[in-house]
Amino acid sequence: MNAVLILGTRPQIIKSAPFISLASKNKHVNLTVIHTGQHYDYEMTKLFFEELQLPDPKTNLNVGSGTHAKQTAEIMIRLEEILKKRKPDLAVVPGDTNSTLAGALTAAKMNIPVAHIEAGARSYDVSMPEEVNRRLTDHCSSVLLTATENCADNLQKEGIAKDKIWQTGDTMYDVLMQQLPKADKTAIMEKLSIEPKNYVLLTLHRPENVDNGQILENVVRALVRLKPLTIVFPVHPRTKKQLRKANLYGKIRRQRHIKLIEPIGYHEMIKLMKNAKLVLTDSGGMQKESFWLKTPCITLRENTEWIETVQLGANYLIGTATQRIVDTTKTILENEREIAKKMRTMPNPFGNGKASEEILRVIKAYLNA
Ligand code: UD1
Repeated sequence: MNAVLILGTRPQIIKSAPFISLASKNKHVNLTVIHTGQHYDYEMTKLFFEELQLPDPKTNLNVGSGTHAKQTAEIMIRLEEILKKRKPDLAVVPGDTNSTLAGALTAAKMNIPVAHIEAGARSYDVSMPEEVNRRLTDHCSSVLLTATENCADNLQKEGIAKDKIWQTGDTMYDVLMQQLPKADKTAIMEKLSIEPKNYVLLTLHRPENVDNGQILENVVRALVRLKPLTIVFPVHPRTKKQLRKANLYGKIRRQRHIKLIEPIGYHEMIKLMKNAKLVLTDSGGMQKESFWLKTPCITLRENTEWIETVQLGANYLIGTATQRIVDTTKTILENEREIAKKMRTMPNPFGNGKASEEILRVIKAYLNA
């Protein structure tokens, strides 16, 4: 079996890691990883290859930043040349980024079957670039690999044939289970001088939040009002740029209760999530990771593709209004013990930590390899 896996961003490296490791140990599989170059800073990409002990990608398309059309189109143009030469039997695309869509479209147009990891996730908000990417990718894929029952249902509601859908579980849960011992050993808590269960962790990077000056200001106001609660905030490059543009970066930096830090690695992030009192985020992945680590999560968005975590009562979907952020944070912290108790017994709709094995099995069967 001769397959390519196309990735380009931080979350795609993380969610592909267990599948890449597994495939590279299998003698029937020849998997080539192609990096689009969508993320290019060391701490957004190379760091994760090192931490997760993945071989460097054979090819990097070096597309870098750009508008959506430019980024997607550049990936397609450069990828087509590579696929022409390699003639893979299958293209695997994880997640919902511009790299995912560009990879899927290019392959599908060359009649190369596409396997989509994390198929069927839906926020039903087409103003999010990721929602457009997910939907289009699913509808040109031949093998749809879903993280939950709900994702599989979403696909069927859109008319996708049942025999194209495989409910494999979530590879992000696999990687978390595999890497947790290493995460526990990192010294990030000491480095930041913080104690377990004595701080909240914040991340923010979705364009619908950070590209909107008013929303950024709402969130920053809430952070200021949460004083003296310690807030650890690793800042995504997009967010830093936008905070500066909105004249809010200096304001946050002056707050002594807010620890503004550079983006951190996977292991450090997992340790911070596990030991936080609470996670505040607009990330898709962190809603699930905090659920698995039994830390309550506030999602600073109007909708989520991981509705299971909300339905179970671990994730509070509240939007970005200042008062709501402050009130919900306080309520959760006042009921910390009860919530922790409830979270300990919640079922896990995301599989058993063996999704990558299942994905490899499905793909091999599909190609009769
Ligand atoms: C992308 C994905 C999103 C994913 C996120 C994780 C799309 C549409 N979005 O969003 O689904 O959750 O990655 O991080 O594909 N930048 C740097 N250095 C980098 C990468 C980006 O400085 O290494 C800056 C650039 O100025 C760029 C901006 O961040 O313009 C946004 O990068 P981009 O790749 O467009 O999207 P993300 O916001 O990272």
